[in-house]
Amino acid sequence: MVVVIDRDAEKLGELKEELGARCEILEGDAADPDAVNRCVDLIIDRFGGIDTVVGNAGVFDWYRRVDRMDGRELLTAFNELFAINVASYLLIARAAYPHLKASRGSLILTCSTASFRGGGGGALYTASKFAARGLVYQLAQEWAPDIRVNGVAPGGTVTALAGLAALGSHERHLGEDPRLVDAVAKSTPLGFVAEPADHAGAYVLLASAVNSRSMTGSIIVSDGGILACV
Ligand SMILES: NC(=O)c1ccc[n+]([C@@H]2O[C@H](COP(=O)([O-])OP(=O)(O)OC[C@H]3O[C@@H](n4cnc5c(N)ncnc54)[C@H](O)[C@@H]3O)[C@@H](O)[C@H]2O)c1
Repeated sequence: MVVVIDRDAEKLGELKEELGARCEILEGDAADPDAVNRCVDLIIDRFGGIDTVVGNAGVFDWYRRVDRMDGRELLTAFNELFAINVASYLLIARAAYPHLKASRGSLILTCSTASFRGGGGGALYTASKFAARGLVYQLAQEWAPDIRVNGVAPGGTVTALAGLAALGSHERHLGEDPRLVDAVAKSTPLGFVAEPADHAGAYVLLASAVNSRSMTGSIIVSDGGILACV
């Protein structure tokens, strides 16, 4: 059983239609502590425990250079992007901690090739994804031996990843930019841009206490070979 919190009611509806009784949905802001607490309470009320938590909410800065923003714009964009890409991971990790400890469960955070190198976004996005990698390492140390903490680092993937309201790019979605999708395919050694399903196996592996029992502090890179060329 999967419980999903997302701010996009339409996407949640589509997911519910696809997964039916196998999934519960909750509309809410993953960067709002009250909404996150409500989500954890719902899971405990309905299912009595939590085996795996995935921190995944994200937004993109569309490579916007900080030297091309004024200070106020930069700070507003930073607050929006870091609230979603970093604080939401901390909030769900914190709220789920006692339940993951009780189940000896696992936390999985979505990182990126931008967690390891420059050029996968602008400075704000790259800094946020380095922060996500830092959370994997730090929480893996702090929460061992009770909870395993790992990450998945996708490369460019055809999704609806959105920009920032603070930069007026919140209605721009990554998968809708054919030039970008084409450029990513050309710069990827395997020669194609991934679909979300191409990364699913990495999450399933990390969620499995049987198949990844000795994995913590690991980040599985699923990027078609991009980082191998750095
Ligand atoms: N698409 C890529 O090329 C790529 C590459 C590497 C990593 N990632 C990471 O993958 C993760 C998922 O992104 P995606 O590419 O699947 O994009 P996506 O837009 O399809 O998924 C992100 C989801 O987060 C939700 N969301 C955003 N802000 C939220 C908030 N405040 N509260 C609740 N939900 C919120 C969106 O509604 C959306 O459903 C992100 O962390 C992203 O940084 C994406």
